[in-house]
Amino acid sequence: MSIAIALDGPAGAGKSSIARRAAKALGYIYVDTGALYRTVGLAAMRNNVEPKPSAELEQLLASIRVELTFNETGEQIVLLDGEDVSGEIRTSEASKMASNISAVPAVRAYLLDLQRDMAKTNNVIMDGRDIGTVVLPDAKVKIFLTASPEARAQRRYKEMAEKGMDVQYENVLKDVMERDYNDMHREIAPLKPAEGSITVDTTELDFEQSIEAIINVIKENR
Ligand code: DC
Repeated sequence: MSIAIALDGPAGAGKSSIARRAAKALGYIYVDTGALYRTVGLAAMRNNVEPKPSAELEQLLASIRVELTFNETGEQIVLLDGEDVSGEIRTSEASKMASNISAVPAVRAYLLDLQRDMAKTNNVIMDGRDIGTVVLPDAKVKIFLTASPEARAQRRYKEMAEKGMDVQYENVLKDVMERDYNDMHREIAPLKPAEGSITVDTTELDFEQSIEAIINVIKENR
């Protein structure tokens, strides 16, 4: 039997970088489910399909192929109709599109089996918003990873500024709060701590301390 760790939490809590390192240390596969929603969002953007329920969107879902693979260093690669779109899904336009499209029930249903299949055959740390509540409710360990909106915006701002992007902290904070609101208030699979989940708050922790905290929670509870 494979072991599944569900890791949920708001945007910018550092889930992906923390989970990637924790997975490596524990010998698990890291699955970033946000990338799947981003890929569907990208497909909609490319085809000028609105991110809301419609026959057009359902037709699009029926016509595309979304796949998760891993490269030789274990990094997750996401493919849209065979094309590696791992870079293109990271723009801020794609982030907003992903947030909107993830509220569409048909999109969530479309991605459900793909996510469950990954956990059937591998030991995974799966990162998302509804992994402990919907996708893997029987996960061995469920973690809700969070930090204050200000701390999350500050980290994202620093990351973007370091890449030479011309951004303002206030705008980054506004984006973070908007996405939180969308993710927590949608009708389907809203972001919330799963029953039986352990909350880890990284507001006061640095990156290495956060990784250690997650590894400890997993080791103590798996
Ligand atoms: O984690 P992320 O920022 O890459 O996720 C992109 C969007 O997808 C985010 O707005 C929330 C949504 N999402 C979701 O609804 N369910 C998941 N399991 C993962 C992401």
